[in-house]
Amino acid sequence: MDDDLDLYEIIAKGFIDHCKDKLGWEDLSNDVIMDVGCGEDGFCCKTILEIFPDVGTIICIDSNPRVASNFKLRTTTKIECVIADIEKRESIRDYEAEITKVISTNAFHQLMEKEEAFRNVYRLLKPGGEAAVLFAIESSLYEWLTELLKNPTWEEAYQCHYVEDMYQTGFGTAQYKEMVEKIGFQVIESSEKQRVSSFSSDQDCKELLYDMCGEKFKLPPELLEEFKEECYQVLLKLNPRDAKGKPCYRATELSLLLVKPKEGADSETKENLAI
Ligand SMILES: C[S@@+](CC[C@H](N)C(=O)[O-])C[C@H]1O[C@@H](n2cnc3c(N)ncnc32)[C@H](O)[C@@H]1O
Repeated sequence: MDDDLDLYEIIAKGFIDHCKDKLGWEDLSNDVIMDVGCGEDGFCCKTILEIFPDVGTIICIDSNPRVASNFKLRTTTKIECVIADIEKRESIRDYEAEITKVISTNAFHQLMEKEEAFRNVYRLLKPGGEAAVLFAIESSLYEWLTELLKNPTWEEAYQCHYVEDMYQTGFGTAQYKEMVEKIGFQVIESSEKQRVSSFSSDQDCKELLYDMCGEKFKLPPELLEEFKEECYQVLLKLNPRDAKGKPCYRATELSLLLVKPKEGADSETKENLAI
C-alpha cells in the first residue's frame, strides 16, 4: 500500500476523479453534496474540497455517532456533519429533494437494506441530481473473517453481528442495475472492477489487518499478538500473494453513476418509491 495514503483514501480519490470525468463536474459552487457513510476521515469530502475549493456545501452523514462527532474535517463552514442512517428515511427527511449530488465510497456493502438506501438517495436528490456510489460486491476479506471466526476464541471475542452471506451470492451488477432502474434512476454507468489491495510488507499487513478489525474484537492484552499473527496467517492462506510477492486481498467493486431524471421528478409515485 502507498506509504502515505490510506487504501480508502486512494479509492475515494480515484472515484472522485472518475466522477469528474464521466459526469463532467466543473463548477460545483452551486452544489449541495451529500457524502453518505463518510467515515471518520471523510476522504470523499476532503478530495472534493481539494479539487473543487469553490464547492457549495458538503453534508457528511454517518450512522455511527462516534464517527459523526469526530470528523477531522470540521475545518470550513462549507461542511456539515450529521448523524444519519441512509437506510432510515426519517433520519434524512429534512434533506429530501435538497441535494444535487450524492457520493458514497466503501459504505453501501455494509448496508442490510440496500434497496431502501437507494430509494432514500433518490428522495434526497433534486430533479436532475446525480448519485455516484462505489462499493464492494465481493471481497476476500469476508472469507477471511469467516475463516477467522472458526476459531472459538476469536468467535467469542467478536463483538459484532456476523452477517451470513453478506455479499448475497448471485446478486451482482445486473441485479443492482435493475434495482436502481426500478426506483427511477437513469443509469449512466454500472461497471465492476477487480481490485487487488496489496500491503507494503508482511509487518504492515499484520498491523493494518489489526487496525481494520481490532476494535470489533474484545481481546485480553495477552492474546493480542497471537490474534494479529492468526489474522495475518489466515489472510495468507486464503489469498495468493500479488505479482510482487506482497500480501494482499481481492475485491470486486461496483461503480454506479446515476441520475434522477428531470421529467418525472415530481413523479415520486407510490409505485417507484413504494410509499
Ligand atoms: C468503511 S467506512 C468508509 C468511509 C468512507 N466513505 C471512505 O471511503 O473512507 C463505512 C462507513 O459507513 C458508515 N455506515 C454504515 N452503515 C451506514 C448507514 N446505514 N448510514 C450511514 N452510514 C453508514 C460506517 O459508520 C462507516 O463510517
